[in-house]
Amino acid sequence: MTRIIAVCNQKGGVGKTTTAVNLSAALSMAERRTLLIDADPQGNATQGVGISIGDEATLYEALLEEDPWTPERASGYILKTQLPFLDLVPATHHLAGAEIELVNLDRREVRLKSFIQFIENRYDFILIDCPPSLGLITLNVLVGAKSCLIPIQCEYYALQGLAELLNTIRLTQQSFNPNLQIEGALLTMHQSSTVLSKQVVEEVRTSFHEKVFHSVIPRTIKLAEAPSFGKPILLYDIATPGAVAYMKLAQEVMGLSG
Ligand SMILES: Nc1ncnc2c1ncn2[C@@H]1O[C@H](COP(=O)(O)OP(=O)(O)O)[C@@H](O)[C@H]1O
Ligand SMILES: [Mg+2]
Repeated sequence: MTRIIAVCNQKGGVGKTTTAVNLSAALSMAERRTLLIDADPQGNATQGVGISIGDEATLYEALLEEDPWTPERASGYILKTQLPFLDLVPATHHLAGAEIELVNLDRREVRLKSFIQFIENRYDFILIDCPPSLGLITLNVLVGAKSCLIPIQCEYYALQGLAELLNTIRLTQQSFNPNLQIEGALLTMHQSSTVLSKQVVEEVRTSFHEKVFHSVIPRTIKLAEAPSFGKPILLYDIATPGAVAYMKLAQEVMGLSG
């Protein structure tokens, strides 16, 4: 069974893209067939795996596709990356238009799901990088996913807005996707020396109970630098604490440790 994981939090800058890119890369290095779907019009996940888009088809066209899916048509949206087990469905700024254009289309909430259902048997893991909003694109992601991984930045307002996210997840469960699970909350940009980071860790563990990953992602400059080289951290500097943290997270997600 393919694991389809939405990396979501409507707050910007909490580590969604960094997590989607590096967890995908780590899973693919463990030879799990992995697809990363970039569902953010900023296209940062696309750039983060080193792909620049010219006239390639992107998620935008996939969401607006009216013809029935065929293997060839679906394959037209999937690009190879520099990692043999990692594929990408890319995004560009055009995707922002889908937020409005989808409103007038039928089956507007299930368009990503239809695409995913068609290709999921090709993969062990599908990770979806969400935009920083709770609009129709995110709804498509939550309807198409089987679980949500929620990155939470270790900073002062960390838990603000989470009630809204959890409410959106609940509404999606009630209306479109009753089996949607919470995969877990992931603490990101943790600074072990600070009291603030310690407080956030405690608060998140109180709110999410056992649904918090043991792996904690440290704040490290290498994780911030890697995207400018178009590389996941494992290809940029495999020995850095950020790389080790994402490899540990991948093991946890694969159920090999925790
Ligand atoms: N663990 C980390 N350590 C240092 N910088 C990080 C870390 N995680 C993310 N960043 C940086 O913080 C910024 C926001 O992260 P990003 O993953 O793009 O968040 P989001 O996708 O939620 O908006 C980016 O510049 C990214 O490089
Ligand atoms: Mg992002």
